[in-house]
Amino acid sequence: MKNILVTGGLGYIGAHTVVELFNNGYKPIIIDNLSNTNIEVLNRLEQICEHSFSFYNEDVCNTDALTNILKTEAIHGIIHFAAFKAVGESVQAPIKYYKNNIGGMTSLLEAMQNQGINNLVFSSSCTVYGEPDHSPVNELAPIKRANSPYGRTKQMGEDILMDCQGLNTVALRYFNPIGAHASALIGELPIGVPNNLMPFITQTAAGIRPSLTVFGNDYNTKDGTCIRDYIHVVDLAKAHVKALQFIAQNPNNHFEVFNIGTGNGYTVLEIIKAFETVNQIQLPYQIGNRRAGDVEKVWADAQKAETQLGWKAELGLNEMVQSAWQWQLQLKA
Ligand code: UFG
Repeated sequence: MKNILVTGGLGYIGAHTVVELFNNGYKPIIIDNLSNTNIEVLNRLEQICEHSFSFYNEDVCNTDALTNILKTEAIHGIIHFAAFKAVGESVQAPIKYYKNNIGGMTSLLEAMQNQGINNLVFSSSCTVYGEPDHSPVNELAPIKRANSPYGRTKQMGEDILMDCQGLNTVALRYFNPIGAHASALIGELPIGVPNNLMPFITQTAAGIRPSLTVFGNDYNTKDGTCIRDYIHVVDLAKAHVKALQFIAQNPNNHFEVFNIGTGNGYTVLEIIKAFETVNQIQLPYQIGNRRAGDVEKVWADAQKAETQLGWKAELGLNEMVQSAWQWQLQLKA
């Protein structure tokens, strides 16, 4: 059983990945500073897996603490999620983002170097493509200037990993994760007013928000609203297990990137319609102005992940919107 350190392991994607690691015979060791999650998530994970996990309430920027954990737990590889992720906030507070996202990564790399650990999976994002020239976008598309400091921290993160010779790393470029675990025990838990579409939809459907604003309907798309590649968070979590297997099978790998999306693009209005139809619920919404920094359309060419990782998204839009709603209902209960 290989010990895998999961930084940000109580966050939205981190927690779902802990479950998949456990299901695949790994021993996840969690580190999280609880800055954007709750310790209750640990109890939920233990309920789902019927297993207790090692947990460290530490900040990844603390290199000494990380080095100690790596030493104590005999860590074989690391999945690095711990980072800030609100695009709009990153525009308002860029230094906070560079300090945490870049500082956290350099701290982790230093601790890994101290302990001679080379295996790393990094949470990157489709945001590294900026506004791509065409979709589906593949990994060879140029890295354009990102639309936000958040996006630049992901671009820089990839650059830093490329510079660090001797590492065996995989960067997964996530498209738009939504949905929740089938148990409805873990899901996305935004603190305050959600920035992202799906938690805003579920909170509106639950009556927590009076209505949803669709940010612009004058884009060059079939119904005028933006297109994204929404991916079920459980499918995304499984890609991390495949990435670890890739690292194990390719000891001479230095740095490889993979798009993790479904290959399907949906407009905002299509997401609303799917949510309403599948969950039999009416969603109050109106059309508003465009949101600054939004990309018009982007969806993945995920062929490389299928060929080289042996990973492919299995869950469709219906499962995504259904599980997101079940999670919201459970939160209300
Ligand atoms: N949207 C609305 N109304 C809302 C919220 C979102 O119409 O209330 C629209 C957006 O304009 C966009 C689509 O829904 O067209 C998706 O928006 P999200 O905020 O859910 O996600 P983004 O595509 O903006 O994704 C960005 C980054 C990702 C990052 C993600 C999470 O590109 O890398 O935010 O922070 F992971």
